Amino acid sequence: MYRTHTCGELRIENIGENVTLAGWVQRVRNIGGMIFIDLRDRYGITQLGFNMELDAQIGEKARKLGREFVVQVSGEVIERESKNMQMETGEIELKVLALDILNASSVPPFTVDDETDGGEEIRMKYRYIDLRRNPLRKNLELRHKLAIETRKYMDGLNFMEIETPYLIKSTPEGARDFVVPSRMNEGQFYALPQSPQTFKQLLMISGYDRYFQIVRCFRDEDLRADRQPEFTQIDCEMAFVEQEDILKTFEGLIRHLFESVKGVQLPEFKRMTYADAMAMYGSDKPDLRFGMEFVEMNELTQNKGFKLFDDAELVLGICAKGAGEYSRKQLDALTDFVKRPQIGAQGLIYCKVNEDGSFKSSVDKFFDQDKLADWAKSCDASTGDLILLLAGNTAKVRKQMNELRLEMGSQLGLRKGVDYKPLWVLDFPLLEWDEQTDRFYAMHHPFTAPKSEHIEMLSIDPKKVNANAYDLVINGVELGGGSIRIHDRDLQAKMFNILGFSDEEAENQFGFLMGAFKYGAPPHGGIAFGFDRLAAMFGGTDSIRDYIAFPKNNSGRDLMIDSPSVISDEQLEELNLKVEIK
Ligand code: AMO
Repeated sequence: MYRTHTCGELRIENIGENVTLAGWVQRVRNIGGMIFIDLRDRYGITQLGFNMELDAQIGEKARKLGREFVVQVSGEVIERESKNMQMETGEIELKVLALDILNASSVPPFTVDDETDGGEEIRMKYRYIDLRRNPLRKNLELRHKLAIETRKYMDGLNFMEIETPYLIKSTPEGARDFVVPSRMNEGQFYALPQSPQTFKQLLMISGYDRYFQIVRCFRDEDLRADRQPEFTQIDCEMAFVEQEDILKTFEGLIRHLFESVKGVQLPEFKRMTYADAMAMYGSDKPDLRFGMEFVEMNELTQNKGFKLFDDAELVLGICAKGAGEYSRKQLDALTDFVKRPQIGAQGLIYCKVNEDGSFKSSVDKFFDQDKLADWAKSCDASTGDLILLLAGNTAKVRKQMNELRLEMGSQLGLRKGVDYKPLWVLDFPLLEWDEQTDRFYAMHHPFTAPKSEHIEMLSIDPKKVNANAYDLVINGVELGGGSIRIHDRDLQAKMFNILGFSDEEAENQFGFLMGAFKYGAPPHGGIAFGFDRLAAMFGGTDSIRDYIAFPKNNSGRDLMIDSPSVISDEQLEELNLKVEIK
């Protein structure tokens, strides 16, 4: 037997017992005639004591140990002379009577401490060492708990976990596909699924009316802190349901996860239409931990001779409570922030409400105290507050104001902590027009049903049609999204048509689904949650990478296995991918 206990297990009750432990050497301290070693495994750290005077031979062996050596030790549990009450095993130590070095270790490239000295890149390269550190171990434990609790909850509601294939067919919709060449089918390719969307719909047609899967998805898109090229979804689908059934069921799942894993009772799940979210927050994923809603100020600002306002389609204001103290320097920094190319505002106008009730604005020349008082009234600003205004084209100014609102929220400390504000965003537009390609794209995906009351409108003015689609947003993070699906063959054909597919293309790409619709497709709908994002939210960070055991970096590379990589000429030839260079 390699061990009788783990390194996190022994307590004062175990004093006098003979035990065997195995683990990694965290630290070696040489104090006179004693050597102390911290032995670590997944469960904790136990202090080992070697008395050179009592047993010089073992002492000599212990002296040779270096960081990250793997050892097995046996001995007696004794009470520590100087206890460390910060450590769970801090009242005891192991008086070592036998030591076996199971494996030596080279000096690790960084320290295996909570606050390591290793930079991001080196830690990615040696991810297997980084994963020994507590912060990452805790993240993976959290992820594991979330998976277990998800399965428990879904099983309790009669959902079946069913696996769907990873080698599927490339489709032109959505993000870019990762493709895999087929050796046996010359010149042909599989694609890795961006999600199991069509398969879960087919499962509904097969009668598995409650499906879920914790499943890997693959998307070849630009990466950010909340995006990985391969990521995991809790993918779900139900038959014989309407939107309300789905919202209720999955509010239940999310509540269960927060309660069971985090001990948090979530407040009410608010609901908001996409149109309201855009008008009030300039975003389809508003962070509701703080107010600072947009105020439309065209009437109060236009035709007063100030060109920026007069030329604008929309003038928006927000009130930053308590920011009236902002210095000139801070306001200049905010102006630089909104003028950055990524945000692209023409300028930032401000108005402070002074202690004496007077106003100080950056456009005093055009707006007297009375007019500024009207601004303050419409923005609900009072003494000590700061009003910030942006003006321009409607879509752009909303986007810019969203960035500014979030920045102010962060600067004023309103986006911190364990305050969770869940929100269902509803009634998304069904379609988006793309100027560049001169065609409609499905805002969610091509299988999303239009609102039943808008079906007629589909032939008249597709832009105005809303979808039976919903997103779950918590604290500004899009955690999940889904929709009620089209289950009528003709409506699906019409949708493909609007998306610019010829009948032939639709048949070619999605013939299998259209075919299945002929054989008894029940009404159905579903949702998928970003599992990595959920884990990161539970852990309190934005970066999903820290919740994935072996993630990719921002260039889509796995620095540890050095992938992607070139393949041999033989492989290329076998796959018929060899390009003759003339
Ligand atoms: P959608 O594309 O909205 O819907 O994806 C669902 C959720 O998956 C997460 N997500 C990601 N997480 C990490 N990295 C990525 N690259 C990434 N892309 C998406 C988000 C998102 O809300 N089949 C539909 C769902 C349905 O209609 O049922 C779908 O995939 O949290």
